[in-house]
Amino acid sequence: MIKDKKVLFSGMQATGNLTLGNYLGALKNWVTLSDDYECFYSVVDMHSITIRQDPATLRKRARALLTLYIAAGLDPKKNCIYYQSHVSGHAELAWILDCFTYMGELNRMTQFKDKAAKHADNINAGLFTYPVLMAADILLYQADVVPVGIDQMQHLELTRNIAIRFNNLYGDVFTVPEAYIGKVGAKIMSLQDPSKKMSKSDENPNGSIYLMDDPDTIMRKCKRAVTDSEACVAYREEQPGLKNLIDIYCACLGKTPGEAVKEFEGKGYGELKMAVGEAVVSVLKPLQEEVARLEKDKAYIDSIIKENSEKAQYFANKTLRKVQRKVGFPDRIR
Ligand code: TRP
Repeated sequence: MIKDKKVLFSGMQATGNLTLGNYLGALKNWVTLSDDYECFYSVVDMHSITIRQDPATLRKRARALLTLYIAAGLDPKKNCIYYQSHVSGHAELAWILDCFTYMGELNRMTQFKDKAAKHADNINAGLFTYPVLMAADILLYQADVVPVGIDQMQHLELTRNIAIRFNNLYGDVFTVPEAYIGKVGAKIMSLQDPSKKMSKSDENPNGSIYLMDDPDTIMRKCKRAVTDSEACVAYREEQPGLKNLIDIYCACLGKTPGEAVKEFEGKGYGELKMAVGEAVVSVLKPLQEEVARLEKDKAYIDSIIKENSEKAQYFANKTLRKVQRKVGFPDRIR
């Protein structure tokens, strides 16, 4: 790859309903990165089937997520937005990397342990090797940087170790990726339990604002958000519910916590909650409208899917052919 820009890779799963946390914490920042990096943003549908999925729902959600990437402002001409399952190189490289990853390493993955405990009836081999598929995603495109949340850091560290191990054996094949930790990447917590991350798998639907929630639902959830009995708008660890509301407010409107606290000085929590709800609506409503507009333009989205999967395949195959040669697979006859 001729690199005048560094390469960035990231992906999201199309499982569950995406939340405001996914948007403010990840997607929104991806948009700001697309000028500085050559970006690959994948809908990682192959990862999704490590947990049993309803096929029709997965297909629908994968398309909705891809559409959302574009609606959020990722220009599909500049950013390679594609389905992981459309690029067979992911599976092919994952197999090779499986043979360079130790059981002991995978056994240490905390996400595997958590998911295995949660889905005790379906602890499949894919769930176990999930981090190797993720390593393949990243290494296939020779990514320099990977924006990930803290929950994925262990997987990224494993990716680096696999890359270094492979490079030590075969020479400089893979770029060893770095985590991209955003400047103030908003970490949005549950509205019902501010010690937990706002999550698409929260059992309590009032804890999360979903990206497709309508304004009434958003306002209701904000009004019901858990606060405290201090009766004083402040931004501090001791008032986690309030801190979270202020974080949401600031992330939506591009303000600083200091500014927000000043604005609500001497005002009640009720007023703050209303303002937070309105701020969220002001961000999500246009996003939803753009999704709706794009969804109607089937031919356009289809053309993006086709073009970008071809682009992704081109780069993926370059790495894959090199790797296949290194490990000793016979040359292809053309
Ligand atoms: N495992 C990531 C998650 O659940 C998604 C993912 C898959 C990913 N492949 C990736 C993220 C590669 C970054 C880079 O959040």
